[in-house]
Amino acid sequence: MQKDEWKNDSEYREIVSDLMATDMVKKLANYTQHHHSTRLEHSIAVSFDSYKIAKRRGLDYRAVARAGLLHDLFFYDWRTTKFDLGSHAFIHPRVALRNAERITQLSPMEKDIILKHMWGLTLARPKYEESVIVSLVDDYEAVHEFVSPLKSKFEALKKQVKRTTAVK
Ligand SMILES: [Fe+2]
Ligand SMILES: [Fe+2]
Repeated sequence: MQKDEWKNDSEYREIVSDLMATDMVKKLANYTQHHHSTRLEHSIAVSFDSYKIAKRRGLDYRAVARAGLLHDLFFYDWRTTKFDLGSHAFIHPRVALRNAERITQLSPMEKDIILKHMWGLTLARPKYEESVIVSLVDDYEAVHEFVSPLKSKFEALKKQVKRTTAVK
């Protein structure tokens, strides 16, 4: 996702605006997710990219957008809390589901999307194609958010090297 690309999509904005306005979703901005992004940025990226894919495939893009935004609605730092990775993978979708139910009514599909988004690491299989999409986009974003700042650092370094060699 291009940064802030979602802001230009009025249909997307309309689908998630009530959720975005809640204190709970706003609070996600206070947590680091993958080194270089906040949990809010990550959640929007997962939600918006999944929404676009679901829309193209004629699936329930509304459910994907909303549940995608709420899939990591938990408030601890998963890198410092004393869980092993397996426990975190198991626990945080359940915490997110419980929190999400406090701010909106969830359809069975939306519940499945939130609960099964870690299904590669846990055993619970998704019931819907929509859940699979969010889970795959979540994996993709995790890698992307980790790698892209490294990439721009590398590009900057390359330019610097070019400049130094040009002077000589
Ligand atoms: Fe997650
Ligand atoms: Fe996630």
